[in-house]
Amino acid sequence: MCGIVGYIGNEEAVPVLINGLRKLEYRGYDSAGIAVLGGQGLLVRKSKGVLKVLEEKIGEESASGSLSGSMGIGHTRWATHGEPSDSNSHPHTDVAGKIAVVHNGIIENHAKLKAWLEDHGVGFRSETDTEVIAHLIDFHYNGDLLQAVLEALKRLEGSYALGIICESDPDRIIAVRKESPLVIGAGKGENLIASDVPALLEYTRDVYYLEDREVAVLYRDRVEFYNGEGQSAAKELSHVDWDASAAEKGGYEHFMLKEIHEQPKALTDTLRARIKTYAAKSINLEEIGFDASWAKAGRVVICACGTAWHAGTIGKYAFEHFARIPTDAEIASEYRYRNPIHDPADIFIIISQSGETADTLAAMRMARKAGARIIAITNVVGSTLAREADLVMYTWAGPEIAVASTKAFTTQLMCVYLIALQFGLLRGTITETELNGYIGALEQLAGHAAAILADKENIQRFASRQFNKSKVFFMGRLFDYAVSLESALKLKEISYTHSEAFAAGELKHGPIALVDTSTLVVAICTQSALFDKMDSNIKEVKARGAATLVITYEDVACFDKTADEIFRIPRTCDPLTPILSVIPCQLYAYYCAVQRGLDPDKPRNLAKSVTVE
Ligand code: F6R
Repeated sequence: MCGIVGYIGNEEAVPVLINGLRKLEYRGYDSAGIAVLGGQGLLVRKSKGVLKVLEEKIGEESASGSLSGSMGIGHTRWATHGEPSDSNSHPHTDVAGKIAVVHNGIIENHAKLKAWLEDHGVGFRSETDTEVIAHLIDFHYNGDLLQAVLEALKRLEGSYALGIICESDPDRIIAVRKESPLVIGAGKGENLIASDVPALLEYTRDVYYLEDREVAVLYRDRVEFYNGEGQSAAKELSHVDWDASAAEKGGYEHFMLKEIHEQPKALTDTLRARIKTYAAKSINLEEIGFDASWAKAGRVVICACGTAWHAGTIGKYAFEHFARIPTDAEIASEYRYRNPIHDPADIFIIISQSGETADTLAAMRMARKAGARIIAITNVVGSTLAREADLVMYTWAGPEIAVASTKAFTTQLMCVYLIALQFGLLRGTITETELNGYIGALEQLAGHAAAILADKENIQRFASRQFNKSKVFFMGRLFDYAVSLESALKLKEISYTHSEAFAAGELKHGPIALVDTSTLVVAICTQSALFDKMDSNIKEVKARGAATLVITYEDVACFDKTADEIFRIPRTCDPLTPILSVIPCQLYAYYCAVQRGLDPDKPRNLAKSVTVE
C-alpha cells in the first residue's frame, strides 16, 4: 500500500522524508520518490526498487547541498496502475514540473480525465492514475494553490490521500484525503503529513486525523483546515501513546487483525476498479483486455494453492451457478504432475496473492504450453504471474503482511464473482437486470463485512471459551463447504489446532467416527435450500457429544433450537455469502491463536510466499 510523507519546517527536508518513508516500509512498496522545494526550485527524484536505491541515487546531491530545501513530499508506491518503474513512481508533476503530487488511492475516472486533459494539449509521462491530478491542479492554477486543489478535487472520483507542493506557492503543503488514510503531525516550528503514525513518531506525538474530504494546509508554524467547499474548519488535536511497533499495525495488536479489518475497504476498492457506473451498472473487464471471445470457452480451469485454491473452489461453484459452464478447481501442485486432458478452448484462471508461488507458476506454464488462454488474479503488480498471463485482474487488497491470508482471499473472491457474472451475461445465462441486482449485492458486501467486524467481541468471547478444543471440524454444503475448507486451514495454520473441513453430506461416510465430546463442530449454514439437511447434520454431531457453532443469516431461526451458539451475518444472496461467512472464522482462528499465546502473524514452519517446491 502506498505510503505518503511530507515535511515543512526549518530542517533539511530530505533526511526527514527518507526517514519517514523508511518507517512506512512495512506497508510494502516497489518504488520510492521525493520532491523537495528549496533555493533551486522544485526538484523531484524517484526510482523503482527499495528505498536504498533512491538513497544511492540522491546521496551525492544531498551531501553536496544541491538537493536541498526545508519542505518536501515523499512516497513509497505499491503499483496499481502501471508497472513498477522510475516513470510510474511518485511524485508526479504537471508538464512544467512546478507542481508535485503524491497520492495513495485510486482515481476511478482517470481514463476520462486523461482523455480530457489530452484534448487540452497535456502530454502524459506515466501510466498512473495519479498523474492526472498534477495536470488538473495545474489546469486550475491561477496563483492560489488551495483554490486550484479545491477545483481539481471536484473532478476526481475514487479514493485519495494527497500531498501537494507548488514552486510558485513555496511556503505551504496541501494535504487532503477521501477514503485513504492521512495524518497530520503538529510539531514545533515544523509540521508533517504521513499515511500512518509510525512516520511521525520521531518528530511529534500530536496529530490531527483528517476526515473524508477535509483539506489541511500546512505552514511552518501552523496548520489550517478546510472542508471540501473551502470553508475553514476547526479540528481537535489528538495525542498518540502507541509505541512504534503498535503504530505500524495501526493500533491493532497484529497485522492479521489489521488486515481482517481492512477487508471492507479492500472489497470496495477491488469492486470499484471493475464497475462502470455510468448508465446502468455493468462490469468493466474490457479495460484488462477481456472480450466476448473469452466467454466462448468450453471449460474453465481454476488453478491455485492453499487459500487461493479455496477461492478457486468457490469460483467453480460460482461459474457453474452464474455462467453454466463446466469448471474445475485444481490444486496446482497436483495438476502440474498429473497427465491432465487439455483442450485449447479451455480458459485458465490462475489465482495467487503473491503471483510467485512455484507450483502455481508451473501449472500456468503447463496450461500455456497446451495452448490455453490465461487470466491471472493476483495482488502484486509486476509479479511473474502478472507478467506471464494473457489478462490480469488485480485484487486491490494492498500488501498482505501476516502469513495467513485474509483480505487477499476475500478480494480474490470478489474478482472471481465478477468474472463469473460477466461470463454469465455473455453466455446468456443471466440477464442484464439480474446482473444489476448482483452488482448491487456485491456493492453491499463491504458494509456487511464492516457490520460483522463490529460484532467481533462476540467471537472473541466465544474463542476465549473454545480455544482449547482438541478437534475442530468445519462443515457445510456447496459454497459453505468451500468456506469450511478455508476456515479449517486458517485455524490450523495459526493456532495449531487440529481442524478439518467436511462436506456435511460426507459426515456419515466416515468423519463422524471422529466426533466425540472433545470436538467443536462449526456448521456454516447459508445455502437456504439446504437448511433442513444442515439441521440434521448438526443434530447428528450433537448426539455424539460435540459442541456446535452455527454461522448463518441474521434472520434465520431454524437453527435456534439445535445450535449451542450462533454467529449471525447479514443476508445477501446465497452464492455470495463466502465473502461474509469466512470473516467470523478468520476472527475465531485469530483469537484462538492469541488465547494460546501464539503469534498469529508468524506461524511456525510457514512462509508468506512459497517460491520453491
Ligand atoms: C494460507 C495461505 C497460503 C497461500 C498459498 C498460496 O493462509 O496464505 O495457503 O494461500 O501459499 O499463496 P499465493 O496466493 O501467494 O499463491
